[in-house]
Amino acid sequence: MPAAATAAEKMDTIYRRQRFIYDATRRYYLFGRDRLLGSLKPPLGGSVLEIGCGTARNLIRAAKRYPDARFHGLDVSEAMLRSARASVARHDLASRIALGCGDATAFQPAELFGRDGFDRVFISYALSMIPPWQDALKQAAACLTPRGELHIVDFGDFEQYPALLRRVQLAWLRRFSVVPIPGMQGKIEALAEEMGLSATAEKLYGGYAVKIRLQHR
Ligand SMILES: C[S@@+](CC[C@H](N)C(=O)[O-])C[C@H]1O[C@@H](n2cnc3c(N)ncnc32)[C@H](O)[C@@H]1O
Repeated sequence: MPAAATAAEKMDTIYRRQRFIYDATRRYYLFGRDRLLGSLKPPLGGSVLEIGCGTARNLIRAAKRYPDARFHGLDVSEAMLRSARASVARHDLASRIALGCGDATAFQPAELFGRDGFDRVFISYALSMIPPWQDALKQAAACLTPRGELHIVDFGDFEQYPALLRRVQLAWLRRFSVVPIPGMQGKIEALAEEMGLSATAEKLYGGYAVKIRLQHR
């Protein structure tokens, strides 16, 4: 892959074939996603956006869990979105889940979805695939309604894991262009402070994952 490949080219290359086995395989290592969905709790009639929605696995589960809310999903990979569209249609949820193609670091929610703000925005295991992840986080926070919440789950620092296991895990993730953000919790808390947001973080499974919620003070 050329060094200057865009995020879209890079993700399409990774997921062109992976997308067919994505949901079946990722259930074994993308932990904490359902916990995040359980804590979303959008208001009645509320709007929810997932950034980096992949196959729409999370959106479909969330739409079934919160039948009054409207869902929106954004991904930079057209290949992933093909799987997402097919899956949403299979679950008969096309009227409640809108999908759009865009880069997490620079997208216009009004152009993609006809609205500027969302009551809940979430990012599940996508920040660790986005080198300028801080820009994605700021963009996500900018999409919140005044009472909105931004929920994040991603790989943690694996603190309680033996060093060898940690090295093997990180090397394996790199093969998929996944680079867990070292000290992610502290870095996100610092960014939240800069943006005037409060942050509530939870370490999951001995540091395997971190779940963070940001909201206006
Ligand atoms: C590991 S998958 C996670 C998918 C889904 N959120 C989940 O929890 O199953 C990461 C997703 O982020 C997308 N992604 C990576 N870089 C992106 C970017 N710059 N903008 C938008 N999406 C991006 C990828 O195409 C992929 O679908």
